[in-house]
Order: sequence, then C-alpha cells, then structure tokens
Amino acid sequence: MTVDEKIFDKGLANTIAAESSMSYIDGANGILEYVGIDIDSLARNSTFEESTYLLWNGTLPNQSQLNGLVDDLREEYALPGGVIDLIRTFPTDAAPMHALQTAVASLALHDPEADVNEPGPNVRKSIKLVAKTPAIVAAFDRHRKGLDIIEPDSSLDIASNFLWMLNGEKPTETMGKALDVCLILHADHGTNASTFTSLVVISTLSDMYSSMAAAIGALRGPLHGGANEGVMRMLEEIGSLDKVDAAIEQKLANKDKIMGFGHRVYKAVDPRATYLKTFTKGIAEDTGNQSLYEMSSRIEDIMNEKVGSRGIYPNVDFYSATTYHCLGLDLDLFTPLFAIARMVGWTGHCMEQLADNKLIRPGSAYIGPHGVDYTPISDR
Ligand code: CMC
Repeated sequence: MTVDEKIFDKGLANTIAAESSMSYIDGANGILEYVGIDIDSLARNSTFEESTYLLWNGTLPNQSQLNGLVDDLREEYALPGGVIDLIRTFPTDAAPMHALQTAVASLALHDPEADVNEPGPNVRKSIKLVAKTPAIVAAFDRHRKGLDIIEPDSSLDIASNFLWMLNGEKPTETMGKALDVCLILHADHGTNASTFTSLVVISTLSDMYSSMAAAIGALRGPLHGGANEGVMRMLEEIGSLDKVDAAIEQKLANKDKIMGFGHRVYKAVDPRATYLKTFTKGIAEDTGNQSLYEMSSRIEDIMNEKVGSRGIYPNVDFYSATTYHCLGLDLDLFTPLFAIARMVGWTGHCMEQLADNKLIRPGSAYIGPHGVDYTPISDR
C-alpha cells in the first residue's frame, strides 16, 4: 500500500488498532463493560482483585481461583531492596509520576525473567507490577515527607494496603472500600492513549517493564490521566460555591478546557462518572467535604446547560478528584493512583498483543519540501 492509499486519521480517532476481549465501550450510549459485565455492577459487587482476574482471564473466578490470585499478589507486595534504595535517592520535590515511572522501569533490574517474553513469565511480571506499583507510590510519598518507608501488610487487600503504606494507619473499612471502587472503575478502558503506548512498546518485542514505564509517561499528561489533578486544582482555585458560575463562564468564554469534562469516546455521560457522582456525594458528607461536592455538582449543571448538547459531559476524572481528596490523598497522588489501577489494563492488553503480535508502526504523511540543494555551512 502506498502512502497515498493509506488513510490519514489525525489523532487515530477513527482507527481500530487492536482486537481485545477486555473492555467494551459504547460511547454513544455511555456503556462500559469488562468482559461483558456492566461497570456499575462490578463497582457495586466486585473487588479490584476479582476484576483483575476477570480482565486477565476473561471470566469471573471461583473462590479458589480468586484466592490463588490474591495470594500471588500479596506475596509480591514488597519492593526489592534495590528499588527502595533507588527511591531514597530521588529528589524530594520530584513529581510522583516521574518517580513512579523511574521506579517501575527499575523493577526490570531485579527480575531475572524481565526479558522472557513468554506467557508464564509475563503473567508473573503482571502480578509483580500490579502488586508493587502501590508500594512504589507510597514509598516515594513517605520518602519525600521525610517519613519511614512502611512495609506492606499482606493481610490487607491492595486498596487498604496502599492506604496503610501511605499513612502508617490501618484505613477504616469505608475508606478501603472507597479506594477499591475507584481502582475497579479505572482498571481498564479500551485502547486509550496510555494503553496504546504500552502496545506500541510491547509490539516491538521489548519487555513488560519498558511498556509500563512508557504507559505511565503517556498517562501523566493533562489530556489523559493528569486531568484528575487538574480538576482538584480548579476546585481549589474557584474556592467556593458562590464563585462557580462566574469562574466556569469565564473559562468557557476564554475557550479554556474544563478539566474532567469531555471524552474522545463518550459522547454521552461516562458511566464511571455516573457511578462516582452518587458515591462521591456519600463520602463527601461522611468526611465533611460537602462544599466540594456541591461545587462539582454546580459545575456539572452549568456544563450541561452550556456544552452538553455538544456531547461534553463529566468523565471519570471529574468526581474521582473529590473522592481522592476525601480520602486525604495529596493532589499529586491522584494520577499515580490512576496508574495503580490501570496497571491491570496495560499488562492485560500487552499479554493480548503478544498472543497475536504484529509490530505497530503507522505511516506519516510527509509535508516537507523535496529536491532541496545542500548549502555548505559557510553559505548559510
Ligand atoms: N471543556 C471545554 N470544551 C471542551 C472540553 C472541555 N473539557 N473538551 C472538549 N471541548 C471542546 C473543545 O474545545 C473542542 O471545541 P471546538 O470544536 O470548538 O474547538 C471540542 O470540544 C472537541 O474537543 P477536542 O479536544 O478536539 O476533542 P478530543 O476528542 O480530541 O478530546 C479530550 C477529548 C478528553 C482530550 C478533551 O475532552 C479534553 O481535553 N478534556 C479535558 C481533559 C480531561 O478531562 N481529560 C480526561 C479524559 S477521561 C480520563 C482518561 O481516560 O484519561
């Protein structure tokens, strides 16, 4: 096929780049399913570990299968000593996403199977990556605050263990469950920008750790996973409910993007946002953060009125920002939390890609000049 016969699809918005059995998105009707199961049902009934099994294996586990995965994950919670030593060398003012990207890449240095691209080793690497990412985020946060790094507690699930390693206190059941639900909602989402990035890397037959480090780099951008941090900054900047109308109208008049709204795929409400809205209301009331919820709800009303007809609705990042704030998380840990959850999707998609691999290598339309004479540097 010549360049002329190829289709130029800016932003790949109309290109299907992979086949997957993991998540299904119907953007027009606001539907998201993991292996055919509606996301709302999973958020209400499942756990992050069970949803991980579902996404990786294509079926819900029975009790012994679930126990097997949970045990495997818990055995891998702890970080290699070399990774902890490395984290201790990081500047304390570094962005947590940079710290996470560096430490995830460094896991390869401590895994003898790092370069073995076969199904068994890749499952083991996926378990390590999902189990250890929370420990990296927590260890860096403790390090930058001058606090002792806390050993994981393998009696806890991933969500509660993360809060334990972060705060040095066992979370309440409600807090642990709130985070668990957020992890389920963020675990996978089709071939989004960071997942696509991971696929490009693994399709060269590179390795899982390199793919995950690249995906983290893609996730941190404000148009992707970085938006949850942007939402919280916006809420803090606006400050109070009575200032919401003027602030949003001014941003729209300036053609600024309102963080947490709009989506490449959803032109109806993101179903994760629908679930999180109700969920966030409860947790905001429980933690004395009603004003944040009220501000968010008012922003949603204004956006509905002004741009809803253009298919710009709240996305998953909009209400998750308030939830994370209610859980006491620092603002710059919001996107790392997204990475903790999405590690499941990234690793799962990479394993799918390797099962039927083809190098991902699109073309580009050259729009520069031709036939230009070389001018010696003395004549330029
Ligand atoms: N606020 C105001 N206007 C918007 C917004 C927004 N949040 N999102 C899109 N628009 C407008 C945009 O200005 C453009 O208008 P016009 O046609 O007049 O130039 C039109 O809608 C199309 O926008 P686009 O950016 O070209 O659309 P896209 O499909 O490339 O972008 C998006 C999708 C998510 C990048 C975009 O909606 C956005 O920047 N949203 C804010 C950032 C955000 O919340 N990102 C998180 C996405 S969900 C989590 C994830 O999966 O990462």
